Amino acid sequence: MERQKPIGIFDSGVGGLSIGHAIRTALPEEDLMYFADLGFSPYGVKATPIIRERSEYIVNFLINQGCKAVVVACNTATVNTISDLRSKFSIPIFGVEPGIKPAALQSKTGVIGVLATQQTLESDSFQQLKTTYSKMVTIETMACPEFVSLVENLNHNGDKATDVAEHYIRPLLSAGSDQIILGCTHFSFLISAINKVVGGEATIIDTATPVAMEVSRRLHALNLENLNSTQGKAAFWTSGNVANVIGPMSELWGSGINVSEISP
Ligand code: DGL
Repeated sequence: MERQKPIGIFDSGVGGLSIGHAIRTALPEEDLMYFADLGFSPYGVKATPIIRERSEYIVNFLINQGCKAVVVACNTATVNTISDLRSKFSIPIFGVEPGIKPAALQSKTGVIGVLATQQTLESDSFQQLKTTYSKMVTIETMACPEFVSLVENLNHNGDKATDVAEHYIRPLLSAGSDQIILGCTHFSFLISAINKVVGGEATIIDTATPVAMEVSRRLHALNLENLNSTQGKAAFWTSGNVANVIGPMSELWGSGINVSEISP
């Protein structure tokens, strides 16, 4: 039965597990399938056609595994591929984008800061969003490639992470930003380092929970939500080397997991 099928989730690596956690909290009974495209990460410095090709391959893979919906748990892949994916596949496809709208609506200083990958910041979709909201607020941006590797290497909690956060975020705060947007799913795992730098100077906007709530609403509206009362299962795949990724994926998922390797 359609409702019993899993929800597929993918990212270039472990970052999308932050969306996975939010979905697990919002929809505990759903089975989840997570694909970490570590054979091709980071997406943040890849050309758009490669990100498109990988995203299409992974959505196909997840549909072949029986997924009833797919969440693109990656801002970089969403801004570059979501319309393409939605035109090619008939199942519901959800994405995640930097939370510019809520930040612009909440800002008192009229300046907001966006942390994201270079690819996200350069994408047409982000540029359009920026043009729209630049009528309301000044939008400061910062590409943060080192944040991604800190998380992938489980260095997200130490002094190094705080130093890197200071380097990326201080210019945005100095420009007057009172909203700091986490525009990459990896950055949720750096929340303690980011909090140390931001302190009370700005509000941090993370879109993981709103995305999970949207998934919940849409599945309900489409009669696709799982009605079981037991906790759902989770399965994990990677295009990277399992021996390298099993540690970070287990640690960031919060329990020992099995990860299967898929040759890219
Ligand atoms: N986690 C991804 C995002 O939300 C991208 C990280 C990367 O591969 O560069 O944009």
